Amino acid sequence: MFIVLEGLDGAGTSTQLKRLEAVLRAEGRQVRATREPSDGPVGVMIRQALRGRLRQTAGAPIGPEALALLFAADRLDHLRDVVEPDLAAGRIVLSDRYVHSSLAYQGVECDPDWVVDINSRARDPDLVIYVEVDVETSLGRIFGRGDALERFEQEEMLEAVRDGYEQAFRARPCNVVRVDGSGSPNEVQARVLDVVRQHLS
Ligand code: TYD
Repeated sequence: MFIVLEGLDGAGTSTQLKRLEAVLRAEGRQVRATREPSDGPVGVMIRQALRGRLRQTAGAPIGPEALALLFAADRLDHLRDVVEPDLAAGRIVLSDRYVHSSLAYQGVECDPDWVVDINSRARDPDLVIYVEVDVETSLGRIFGRGDALERFEQEEMLEAVRDGYEQAFRARPCNVVRVDGSGSPNEVQARVLDVVRQHLS
């Protein structure tokens, strides 16, 4: 079973993924928690690009198309090296972000149909949980972290990404369940667990 958590920056997908992993493990299930950008070589490069540490020779950031291709490339490696082997071994694979992140985020800066195309080799997950928050909540949590802002962490961009997710779920329909991401981590965890349990049973 391949389960993906999606959401805006600050939606809490990373926190919820860790909690979900812990709960399922405690029940004796075989679980692999992973993420995109992945920890593989292309994923590492992407994280550097998002922090502005990877630049063109003249100092400009990596262009949106090149970045979209990097995300798609990272995804195929991640599938081959992590997701598929773990699924084949009978584990539940939980991924913090996957193909709909590319459709939502890269679809803002690139032709959305092209982004769908370059991701067509990436298999569908079995379940996508979309942790839904408004942009205000997203920004509040991003600022609350106190880290330097990354490439996509600005109000206008997040508004566009929020619409981008709606388009993404239409462009690449699969089993998407929406969960209210407002409230405390415990409240959101209960909602996420509910959805996962329904799915596992
Ligand atoms: P994020 O999960 O926020 O990582 P971290 O918590 O380490 O900062 O992901 C990094 C950013 O990458 C986030 O703004 C969403 C963006 N992203 C895309 O634009 N396209 C993609 O395909 C993926 C997987 C992520």
